Amino acid sequence: MKTPTLPPSSHTPQKYTGPSAAEVLAQRKQFLNPGIFLYYKEPIMFVEGKMQYIWDDQGRRYLDGLGGIVTISVGHGHPHVVAAANKQNETLQHSTTIYLHPNVGAFAEKLASKMPGDLKVCYFVNSGSEANDLALLMARLYTNNYDLIALRNAYHGGNASGMGMTAHSTWKYNVPHSFGVHHAIAPYPYRGPYGYDDADAGRKYADDVKNLIEYATPGKVAGFIAESIQGVGGFVEFPQGYLKHTYEHVRAAGGICIADEVQTGFGRTGTHFWGFETQGVIPDIVTMAKGIGNGCPLAAVVTTPKIAASMLGKVHFNTFGGNPVVSAIGKAVLEVIEQEKLQENSLKQGNRIKAGLEKLKAKYSIIGDVRGKGLLLGIEMVKDRTTKEPARAECAAVLEHAREMGLLIGKGGLWGQTIRFAPPMCITDADAEFIVDVFDAAFAKI
Ligand SMILES: Cc1ncc(COP(=O)(O)O)c(C=O)c1O
Repeated sequence: MKTPTLPPSSHTPQKYTGPSAAEVLAQRKQFLNPGIFLYYKEPIMFVEGKMQYIWDDQGRRYLDGLGGIVTISVGHGHPHVVAAANKQNETLQHSTTIYLHPNVGAFAEKLASKMPGDLKVCYFVNSGSEANDLALLMARLYTNNYDLIALRNAYHGGNASGMGMTAHSTWKYNVPHSFGVHHAIAPYPYRGPYGYDDADAGRKYADDVKNLIEYATPGKVAGFIAESIQGVGGFVEFPQGYLKHTYEHVRAAGGICIADEVQTGFGRTGTHFWGFETQGVIPDIVTMAKGIGNGCPLAAVVTTPKIAASMLGKVHFNTFGGNPVVSAIGKAVLEVIEQEKLQENSLKQGNRIKAGLEKLKAKYSIIGDVRGKGLLLGIEMVKDRTTKEPARAECAAVLEHAREMGLLIGKGGLWGQTIRFAPPMCITDADAEFIVDVFDAAFAKI
C-alpha cells in the first residue's frame, strides 16, 4: 500500500505566537456554550488556511477535506475574495438596508443570473437557519396554508423553526416545536424500503408525501422543504424522479416547494450549479448559506416576484441583510467559481475520488455504501453488510487515522456512521490521489 504523501504547498504560514491549544480549550470550557462539540480525541486548533490547506498552531499542514463543514467553497483565503473584502472594509463596513449601497444590488443581480426560471428576487440573511425560517414564513404567507412537509434524516437549522423542520433526534431539544411540520420517509435508497435496485423508487418514496398530505394535514399544505442531497444525514442522494413526483403532489395540495441548497449549491455537485437541477425540477424558493460566503456569515433566500409580493403586507427588515462587505464577498465567490471553473473541477475530482472509493468498497466490507456527487461524497460504514448495523466507533476511528495522515474529514448520519467528504472545490489531481490513498490506509487500520 502506498504511504500517503500530502502534495506540496507554495504557501508558508506565519509563525503562530498566540495562546496554546490547551489555554484556548480551557477558555472555551469556561466562557463558551458547553453544548458545542469538538472533533478528535486531541482537539486541533487551526490558525491559518490557504486554498485547500489549513495549518494548526504547531505549523502542521492538513488537507481540509470537510471545508469547515461544507463552507469553504473556493478555498481558504482565496486572493480574489480577500481583496474584495479588504477593499470594502477600508471604505464602508456597514450601512444597512434603509440606505442604498451598490454592492448588494450587484451581488443580487449576479446571484439571480445563476438561478433558473423566475427565481429572481433575493433576500440576504446571516445563516442557513435564518434563511429556512424566512422560506417557511414566505410559504405560509403566500399559500395561506400552515402545514409543511419535511423529510426524516433532514437538517435545516438550530433555531426554533429549523429544529422543527429537522428530523434527527440528535438536534431536537425537548421543547415544543415543529408545529404543522410533518416528516415524510427519507428517500434513502441504502436504508429505506426502496433500494438502488428499484427503478421506480423515486415515485414510491414520493407517494409517502402524498399519503402524509392526505392523512396528516387538512389536505392543503404551505409547502415542502428538502435538502437536494441530505447533508448532516450523511450525504443521502435521492433516487431519480423523487423531487419531480413530490413537487407534483405538493403543488396539487396548494403548496410551494423549497430547496435547501445550503450544502449542495454553488457547483459542488459538479454536474450542475444547484443540487435540485440534478433532479430536473425548479423550486419556488431556494435557500442557501455556507459556500455562498466561503466562510463569512452570509446566507440567502431566492424566490419569484410573485411569492416575494406576499411579504409586502408588513415591513420586513434584517440589519445585516446584504451588508456591503459580505455582498462584495458573495459576488467575488461567484466570480471565482466561474473564472476558475470550479464546478467543472468538482466534477472531475469528485468522479476520480468516487471511483477510488468504489474500489475501496470492494476491498473493505466495512464500507456499506459509497454515494454523493462531485465534491460531496459519503461513505456509510456498517459492521455487517446484511444487517447494516451502523459502524459508529469504526467511523470515528477512520476520522482519527485520516487526521494522523494529514486529511480532515467529517461524519454524519443519525448514528455518526457516515464519513462526509466535502473539500474546497479547488483541489488538484495530486490532492485527489492523496485523499484516496489516505482512505485506503485508514480503512486498512480498522
Ligand atoms: C442543509 C442545511 N440547512 C441549514 C443549515 C443551517 O445553517 P446555519 O448553521 O448556517 O444556520 C445547515 C447547517 O449545517 C445545513 O446543513
